[in-house]
Amino acid sequence: YRSLRVALLGAGTVGSQVARLLIDEADELANRVGARLELVGIAVRDPDAPRDTPLPQELFTTDAESLILGADIVIELMGGIEPARTFVLQALGSGADVVTGNKALLATHGPELAEAAEQVGAQLAYEAAVAGAIPIIRPLRESLAGDRVERILAIVNGTTNFILDRMDSTGTSLENALATATELGYAEADPTADIGGYDAAQKAAILASLAFHTTVPLASVHREGITEISAAEVAAAADAGYVVKLLAICGRMTDPDTGEDAVSVRVHPALIPRTHPLASVRGGNNAVFVEAEAAGPLMFYGAGAGGVQTASAVLGDLVAVARRHVVGGPGLGDSAHAGLPVLDIGKVTTRY
Ligand code: NDP
Ligand code: HSE
Repeated sequence: YRSLRVALLGAGTVGSQVARLLIDEADELANRVGARLELVGIAVRDPDAPRDTPLPQELFTTDAESLILGADIVIELMGGIEPARTFVLQALGSGADVVTGNKALLATHGPELAEAAEQVGAQLAYEAAVAGAIPIIRPLRESLAGDRVERILAIVNGTTNFILDRMDSTGTSLENALATATELGYAEADPTADIGGYDAAQKAAILASLAFHTTVPLASVHREGITEISAAEVAAAADAGYVVKLLAICGRMTDPDTGEDAVSVRVHPALIPRTHPLASVRGGNNAVFVEAEAAGPLMFYGAGAGGVQTASAVLGDLVAVARRHVVGGPGLGDSAHAGLPVLDIGKVTTRY
Protein backbone atom coordinates (compact mmCIF):
# COMPACT_ATOMS: atom_id res chain seq x y z
CA TYR A 1 0.00 0.00 0.00
CA ARG A 2 1.00 3.65 -0.45
CA SER A 3 1.03 5.81 2.71
CA LEU A 4 -1.04 8.86 3.66
CA ARG A 5 0.64 11.19 6.15
CA VAL A 6 -1.60 11.94 9.13
CA ALA A 7 -0.75 14.75 11.57
CA LEU A 8 -2.54 14.84 14.94
CA LEU A 9 -2.98 18.09 16.86
CA GLY A 10 -3.80 17.28 20.50
CA ALA A 11 -3.41 14.10 22.59
CA GLY A 12 -5.83 14.71 25.44
CA THR A 13 -8.94 12.67 26.27
CA VAL A 14 -9.87 12.10 22.61
CA GLY A 15 -6.58 12.62 20.76
CA SER A 16 -4.66 10.05 22.81
CA GLN A 17 -7.28 7.39 21.98
CA VAL A 18 -7.22 8.32 18.29
CA ALA A 19 -3.41 7.94 18.27
CA ARG A 20 -3.60 4.58 20.06
CA LEU A 21 -6.20 3.20 17.63
CA LEU A 22 -4.27 4.49 14.60
CA ILE A 23 -1.22 2.58 15.81
CA ASP A 24 -2.96 -0.57 17.10
CA GLU A 25 -5.32 -0.96 14.15
CA ALA A 26 -2.88 0.16 11.43
CA ASP A 27 -3.13 -3.02 9.32
CA GLU A 28 -6.92 -3.27 9.50
CA LEU A 29 -7.34 0.43 8.66
CA ALA A 30 -4.93 0.07 5.71
CA ASN A 31 -7.10 -2.74 4.35
CA ARG A 32 -10.24 -0.65 4.68
CA VAL A 33 -8.74 2.46 3.08
CA GLY A 34 -6.41 0.91 0.52
CA ALA A 35 -3.54 3.02 1.91
CA ARG A 36 -1.58 3.07 5.16
CA LEU A 37 -2.51 5.88 7.55
CA GLU A 38 0.91 6.88 8.82
CA LEU A 39 0.79 8.89 12.05
CA VAL A 40 3.72 11.25 11.41
CA GLY A 41 3.51 13.28 14.62
CA ILE A 42 1.41 14.59 17.50
CA ALA A 43 1.47 18.27 18.44
CA VAL A 44 0.84 19.09 22.11
CA ARG A 45 1.74 21.82 24.61
CA ASP A 46 3.84 19.58 26.85
CA PRO A 47 5.42 16.51 25.20
CA ASP A 48 6.40 15.10 28.61
CA ALA A 49 2.92 15.28 30.16
CA PRO A 50 1.41 11.91 31.20
CA ARG A 51 -1.05 10.50 28.63
CA ASP A 52 -4.19 8.37 29.12
CA THR A 53 -2.54 5.61 27.08
CA PRO A 54 1.13 4.82 26.27
CA LEU A 55 2.24 6.40 22.96
CA PRO A 56 5.67 6.50 21.24
CA GLN A 57 7.51 9.49 22.73
CA GLU A 58 9.28 10.27 19.43
CA LEU A 59 5.95 11.25 17.84
CA PHE A 60 5.45 14.22 20.17
CA THR A 61 6.30 17.78 19.21
CA THR A 62 5.34 21.32 20.19
CA ASP A 63 5.83 22.51 16.59
CA ALA A 64 2.34 22.12 15.11
CA GLU A 65 3.10 24.34 12.10
CA SER A 66 5.96 22.16 10.85
CA LEU A 67 3.93 19.03 11.47
CA ILE A 68 1.05 20.32 9.33
CA LEU A 69 3.39 21.04 6.40
CA GLY A 70 3.50 17.95 4.22
CA ALA A 71 0.57 16.20 5.91
CA ASP A 72 -2.15 14.70 3.69
CA ILE A 73 -4.68 14.73 6.53
CA VAL A 74 -4.67 16.81 9.72
CA ILE A 75 -6.73 15.75 12.74
CA GLU A 76 -7.43 18.69 15.06
CA LEU A 77 -8.31 17.66 18.63
CA MET A 78 -6.87 20.57 20.59
CA GLY A 79 -10.17 22.32 21.19
CA GLY A 80 -10.80 26.06 21.59
CA ILE A 81 -10.74 28.76 18.93
CA GLU A 82 -7.09 29.79 18.76
CA PRO A 83 -4.62 28.46 17.79
CA ALA A 84 -6.92 25.69 16.44
CA ARG A 85 -8.48 28.01 13.84
CA THR A 86 -5.10 29.17 12.52
CA PHE A 87 -3.81 25.58 12.30
CA VAL A 88 -6.95 24.30 10.54
CA LEU A 89 -6.80 27.18 8.01
CA GLN A 90 -3.10 26.50 7.49
CA ALA A 91 -3.79 22.81 6.86
CA LEU A 92 -6.66 23.51 4.44
CA GLY A 93 -4.59 26.21 2.73
CA SER A 94 -1.87 23.65 2.03
CA GLY A 95 -4.48 21.34 0.46
CA ALA A 96 -4.65 18.87 3.37
CA ASP A 97 -7.98 17.42 4.44
CA VAL A 98 -9.04 18.17 8.01
CA VAL A 99 -10.91 16.05 10.55
CA THR A 100 -11.94 17.87 13.73
CA GLY A 101 -14.18 17.42 16.77
CA ASN A 102 -14.04 21.09 17.66
CA LYS A 103 -17.63 22.34 17.96
CA ALA A 104 -16.55 25.67 19.48
CA LEU A 105 -14.53 26.38 16.35
CA LEU A 106 -17.19 25.12 13.93
CA ALA A 107 -20.03 27.00 15.61
CA THR A 108 -18.13 30.29 15.44
CA HIS A 109 -16.04 29.94 12.25
CA GLY A 110 -17.77 27.13 10.32
CA PRO A 111 -18.48 29.13 7.14
CA GLU A 112 -14.90 30.48 7.03
CA LEU A 113 -13.47 26.94 7.32
CA ALA A 114 -15.92 25.49 4.79
CA GLU A 115 -14.98 28.21 2.29
CA ALA A 116 -11.26 27.62 2.84
CA ALA A 117 -11.80 23.90 2.17
CA GLU A 118 -13.91 24.57 -0.92
CA GLN A 119 -11.34 26.92 -2.42
CA VAL A 120 -8.73 24.15 -2.63
CA GLY A 121 -11.07 21.17 -2.98
CA ALA A 122 -10.10 19.82 0.46
CA GLN A 123 -12.43 17.90 2.75
CA LEU A 124 -13.55 19.13 6.18
CA ALA A 125 -15.13 16.40 8.33
CA TYR A 126 -16.51 16.85 11.85
CA GLU A 127 -18.66 13.90 12.92
CA ALA A 128 -17.17 14.02 16.44
CA ALA A 129 -18.22 17.63 16.98
CA VAL A 130 -21.82 16.77 17.86
CA ALA A 131 -22.94 13.92 20.14
CA GLY A 132 -19.56 12.13 20.44
CA ALA A 133 -19.79 8.62 19.02
CA ILE A 134 -23.27 8.98 17.52
CA PRO A 135 -23.36 9.29 13.72
CA ILE A 136 -25.50 12.40 13.18
CA ILE A 137 -23.48 14.82 11.04
CA ARG A 138 -23.26 12.51 8.03
CA PRO A 139 -26.92 11.45 8.30
CA LEU A 140 -27.98 15.12 8.23
CA ARG A 141 -25.43 16.13 5.59
CA GLU A 142 -25.96 13.15 3.29
CA SER A 143 -28.65 10.60 4.15
CA LEU A 144 -31.38 13.18 4.84
CA ALA A 145 -30.20 15.73 2.25
CA GLY A 146 -33.17 14.94 0.01
CA ASP A 147 -35.75 15.17 2.79
CA ARG A 148 -37.16 18.16 4.69
CA VAL A 149 -36.22 18.18 8.36
CA GLU A 150 -39.00 19.80 10.38
CA ARG A 151 -37.65 19.65 13.93
CA ILE A 152 -34.83 18.32 16.08
CA LEU A 153 -35.10 17.61 19.82
CA ALA A 154 -31.72 16.64 21.23
CA ILE A 155 -29.74 15.84 24.32
CA VAL A 156 -26.28 16.80 23.07
CA ASN A 157 -24.27 17.38 26.23
CA GLY A 158 -23.12 14.28 28.08
CA THR A 159 -21.88 16.14 31.16
CA THR A 160 -25.19 17.82 31.94
CA ASN A 161 -27.15 14.67 31.15
CA PHE A 162 -24.88 12.74 33.52
CA ILE A 163 -25.29 15.41 36.23
CA LEU A 164 -29.09 15.63 35.93
CA ASP A 165 -29.37 11.83 35.85
CA ARG A 166 -27.20 11.51 38.99
CA MET A 167 -29.22 14.20 40.78
CA ASP A 168 -32.40 12.36 39.78
CA SER A 169 -31.26 8.86 40.76
CA THR A 170 -29.17 9.59 43.88
CA GLY A 171 -30.30 13.04 45.05
CA THR A 172 -26.67 14.26 44.97
CA SER A 173 -25.71 17.91 44.38
CA LEU A 174 -24.78 19.41 41.00
CA GLU A 175 -21.20 19.99 42.24
CA ASN A 176 -20.68 16.34 43.28
CA ALA A 177 -22.11 15.00 40.05
CA LEU A 178 -19.94 17.41 38.00
CA ALA A 179 -16.79 16.15 39.75
CA THR A 180 -17.64 12.57 38.69
CA ALA A 181 -18.46 13.65 35.11
CA THR A 182 -15.06 15.36 34.92
CA GLU A 183 -13.28 12.22 36.19
CA LEU A 184 -15.03 10.20 33.47
CA GLY A 185 -13.69 12.54 30.75
CA TYR A 186 -17.11 13.91 29.75
CA ALA A 187 -16.57 17.53 30.77
CA GLU A 188 -14.75 20.20 28.77
CA ALA A 189 -11.45 21.60 30.11
CA ASP A 190 -13.60 24.49 31.40
CA PRO A 191 -16.85 22.82 32.59
CA THR A 192 -18.66 26.18 32.49
CA ALA A 193 -19.08 25.36 28.79
CA ASP A 194 -21.09 22.28 29.76
CA ILE A 195 -23.19 23.41 32.72
CA GLY A 196 -23.77 26.88 31.25
CA GLY A 197 -25.29 25.32 28.09
CA TYR A 198 -22.61 26.87 25.83
CA ASP A 199 -21.40 23.48 24.55
CA ALA A 200 -24.98 22.38 23.77
CA ALA A 201 -25.66 25.73 22.06
CA GLN A 202 -22.61 25.25 19.80
CA LYS A 203 -23.80 21.77 18.87
CA ALA A 204 -27.36 23.02 18.30
CA ALA A 205 -26.05 25.70 15.92
CA ILE A 206 -24.14 23.04 13.92
CA LEU A 207 -27.13 20.65 13.81
CA ALA A 208 -29.59 23.36 12.80
CA SER A 209 -27.27 24.72 10.10
CA LEU A 210 -27.05 21.26 8.51
CA ALA A 211 -30.69 20.30 9.03
CA PHE A 212 -32.15 23.52 7.63
CA HIS A 213 -29.44 24.25 5.01
CA THR A 214 -28.61 27.65 6.43
CA THR A 215 -26.04 29.31 8.68
CA VAL A 216 -27.20 29.58 12.28
CA PRO A 217 -24.96 32.08 14.12
CA LEU A 218 -24.17 31.03 17.68
CA ALA A 219 -25.39 34.42 18.90
CA SER A 220 -28.92 33.65 17.69
CA VAL A 221 -29.19 30.45 19.76
CA HIS A 222 -31.22 31.08 22.93
CA ARG A 223 -29.23 29.50 25.78
CA GLU A 224 -29.88 28.63 29.41
CA GLY A 225 -27.72 26.19 31.36
CA ILE A 226 -28.42 23.97 34.37
CA THR A 227 -26.53 25.99 36.99
CA GLU A 228 -29.73 27.13 38.68
CA ILE A 229 -31.21 23.61 38.94
CA SER A 230 -31.22 22.28 42.51
CA ALA A 231 -31.51 18.72 43.84
CA ALA A 232 -34.85 19.74 45.39
CA GLU A 233 -36.24 20.81 41.99
CA VAL A 234 -35.12 17.57 40.36
CA ALA A 235 -36.83 15.64 43.20
CA ALA A 236 -40.02 17.69 42.82
CA ALA A 237 -40.06 16.99 39.07
CA ALA A 238 -39.62 13.27 39.79
CA ASP A 239 -42.57 13.32 42.22
CA ALA A 240 -44.72 14.84 39.46
CA GLY A 241 -43.65 12.13 36.95
CA TYR A 242 -41.10 14.22 35.04
CA VAL A 243 -37.37 14.20 34.47
CA VAL A 244 -35.28 17.35 33.91
CA LYS A 245 -33.13 17.32 30.74
CA LEU A 246 -31.05 19.98 29.02
CA LEU A 247 -32.66 20.03 25.56
CA ALA A 248 -31.58 21.53 22.25
CA ILE A 249 -34.70 22.36 20.24
CA CYS A 250 -34.29 23.33 16.59
CA GLY A 251 -37.35 23.97 14.45
CA ARG A 252 -38.88 25.74 11.52
CA MET A 253 -41.19 28.68 12.27
CA THR A 254 -42.74 31.72 10.65
CA ASP A 255 -41.03 35.03 11.35
CA PRO A 256 -43.76 37.04 13.17
CA ASP A 257 -42.46 40.32 11.67
CA THR A 258 -42.02 39.35 8.02
CA GLY A 259 -44.27 36.29 7.73
CA GLU A 260 -41.37 34.47 6.04
CA ASP A 261 -40.00 31.01 6.81
CA ALA A 262 -37.35 31.05 9.54
CA VAL A 263 -35.55 28.79 11.98
CA SER A 264 -35.48 28.92 15.78
CA VAL A 265 -32.79 27.28 17.90
CA ARG A 266 -32.82 27.13 21.71
CA VAL A 267 -31.12 25.27 24.54
CA HIS A 268 -32.65 25.16 28.01
CA PRO A 269 -33.63 22.75 30.81
CA ALA A 270 -36.99 21.13 30.08
CA LEU A 271 -39.39 18.88 31.97
CA ILE A 272 -39.95 15.64 30.07
CA PRO A 273 -42.58 13.05 31.00
CA ARG A 274 -40.90 9.83 32.19
CA THR A 275 -42.67 7.96 29.40
CA HIS A 276 -40.99 10.01 26.62
CA PRO A 277 -38.09 8.22 24.77
CA LEU A 278 -35.71 11.08 25.64
CA ALA A 279 -36.38 10.48 29.37
CA SER A 280 -34.65 7.10 29.06
CA VAL A 281 -31.35 8.68 27.95
CA ARG A 282 -29.20 8.03 31.01
CA GLY A 283 -25.70 8.93 32.20
CA GLY A 284 -23.34 10.57 29.70
CA ASN A 285 -25.41 9.36 26.76
CA ASN A 286 -26.88 11.64 24.10
CA ALA A 287 -29.84 11.31 21.75
CA VAL A 288 -30.90 13.25 18.69
CA PHE A 289 -34.56 12.95 17.72
CA VAL A 290 -35.12 14.13 14.13
CA GLU A 291 -38.55 14.68 12.60
CA ALA A 292 -38.34 14.69 8.80
CA GLU A 293 -41.23 15.13 6.37
CA ALA A 294 -40.74 11.94 4.36
CA ALA A 295 -38.66 9.80 6.75
CA GLY A 296 -40.84 10.56 9.78
CA PRO A 297 -39.30 10.40 13.27
CA LEU A 298 -35.75 9.08 13.62
CA MET A 299 -33.81 8.63 16.87
CA PHE A 300 -30.00 8.55 17.05
CA TYR A 301 -28.75 7.37 20.44
CA GLY A 302 -25.46 6.49 22.14
CA ALA A 303 -22.35 7.76 23.90
CA GLY A 304 -22.19 11.53 23.59
CA ALA A 305 -18.77 11.98 25.16
CA GLY A 306 -15.69 10.09 26.34
CA GLY A 307 -12.25 9.57 24.80
CA VAL A 308 -12.48 6.21 23.07
CA GLN A 309 -16.15 6.64 22.11
CA THR A 310 -15.44 9.96 20.40
CA ALA A 311 -12.31 8.48 18.80
CA SER A 312 -14.65 6.13 16.90
CA ALA A 313 -16.30 9.11 15.17
CA VAL A 314 -12.91 10.70 14.42
CA LEU A 315 -11.56 7.49 12.87
CA GLY A 316 -14.75 7.06 10.85
CA ASP A 317 -14.18 10.51 9.35
CA LEU A 318 -10.52 9.70 8.79
CA VAL A 319 -11.31 6.51 6.87
CA ALA A 320 -13.96 8.30 4.77
CA VAL A 321 -11.65 11.20 3.98
CA ALA A 322 -8.66 8.92 3.26
CA ARG A 323 -10.67 6.72 0.88
CA ARG A 324 -11.14 9.69 -1.44
CA HIS A 325 -7.35 9.89 -1.81
CA VAL A 326 -7.17 6.35 -3.09
CA VAL A 327 -8.05 5.84 -6.73
CA GLY A 328 -9.13 2.23 -7.22
CA GLY A 329 -9.22 1.60 -3.46
CA PRO A 330 -12.14 -0.05 -1.70
CA GLY A 331 -15.45 1.79 -2.10
CA LEU A 332 -17.71 2.82 0.77
CA GLY A 333 -18.07 -0.14 3.10
CA ASP A 334 -16.28 -2.54 0.73
CA SER A 335 -13.50 -4.76 2.00
CA ALA A 336 -10.12 -4.68 0.29
CA HIS A 337 -9.26 -8.19 1.41
CA ALA A 338 -10.96 -11.53 1.63
CA GLY A 339 -12.54 -10.59 4.99
CA LEU A 340 -13.84 -12.75 7.80
CA PRO A 341 -15.21 -16.24 7.17
CA VAL A 342 -19.01 -16.36 6.99
CA LEU A 343 -20.56 -18.99 9.26
CA ASP A 344 -23.43 -21.22 8.24
CA ILE A 345 -26.09 -19.86 10.60
CA GLY A 346 -27.29 -23.38 11.26
CA LYS A 347 -24.04 -24.06 13.12
CA VAL A 348 -24.49 -21.34 15.72
CA THR A 349 -27.05 -20.80 18.42
CA THR A 350 -28.60 -17.34 18.39
CA ARG A 351 -30.26 -16.10 21.48
CA TYR A 352 -31.30 -12.67 22.75
P1 NDP B 1 -8.23 17.84 26.09
O1 NDP B 1 -8.25 19.15 26.79
O2 NDP B 1 -8.27 16.59 26.88
O3 NDP B 1 -6.91 17.76 25.15
C1 NDP B 1 -6.45 18.85 24.39
C2 NDP B 1 -5.13 18.47 23.76
O4 NDP B 1 -4.72 19.53 22.91
C3 NDP B 1 -3.99 18.26 24.77
O5 NDP B 1 -3.19 17.18 24.36
C4 NDP B 1 -3.21 19.57 24.70
O6 NDP B 1 -1.81 19.42 24.94
C5 NDP B 1 -3.42 19.97 23.25
N1 NDP B 1 -3.36 21.42 23.08
C6 NDP B 1 -4.20 22.33 23.60
N2 NDP B 1 -3.82 23.57 23.23
C7 NDP B 1 -2.71 23.43 22.48
C8 NDP B 1 -1.84 24.31 21.82
N3 NDP B 1 -2.02 25.63 21.88
N4 NDP B 1 -0.80 23.81 21.12
C9 NDP B 1 -0.59 22.47 21.06
N5 NDP B 1 -1.39 21.56 21.66
C10 NDP B 1 -2.43 22.05 22.37
O7 NDP B 1 -9.43 17.87 25.03
P2 NDP B 1 -10.39 16.68 24.56
O8 NDP B 1 -9.58 15.58 24.03
O9 NDP B 1 -11.41 16.42 25.60
O10 NDP B 1 -11.18 17.39 23.35
C11 NDP B 1 -10.57 17.64 22.12
C12 NDP B 1 -11.62 18.21 21.15
O11 NDP B 1 -12.64 17.23 20.97
C13 NDP B 1 -12.33 19.46 21.68
O12 NDP B 1 -12.63 20.28 20.59
C14 NDP B 1 -13.60 18.91 22.32
O13 NDP B 1 -14.64 19.85 22.34
C15 NDP B 1 -13.91 17.78 21.35
N6 NDP B 1 -14.72 16.70 21.88
C16 NDP B 1 -14.41 16.14 23.10
C17 NDP B 1 -15.17 15.10 23.61
C18 NDP B 1 -14.88 14.47 24.93
O14 NDP B 1 -15.65 13.58 25.36
N7 NDP B 1 -13.80 14.85 25.63
C19 NDP B 1 -16.31 14.55 22.83
C20 NDP B 1 -16.53 15.20 21.56
C21 NDP B 1 -15.75 16.24 21.11
P3 NDP B 1 -1.22 18.96 26.39
O15 NDP B 1 -1.71 17.54 26.56
O16 NDP B 1 0.25 19.03 26.27
O17 NDP B 1 -1.83 19.90 27.38
N1 HSE C 1 -18.17 18.08 27.19
C1 HSE C 1 -18.91 17.47 26.15
C2 HSE C 1 -20.13 16.77 26.71
C3 HSE C 1 -18.04 16.50 25.40
O1 HSE C 1 -20.22 16.62 27.93
O2 HSE C 1 -21.02 16.38 25.95
C4 HSE C 1 -18.66 16.00 24.14
O3 HSE C 1 -18.77 17.00 23.18
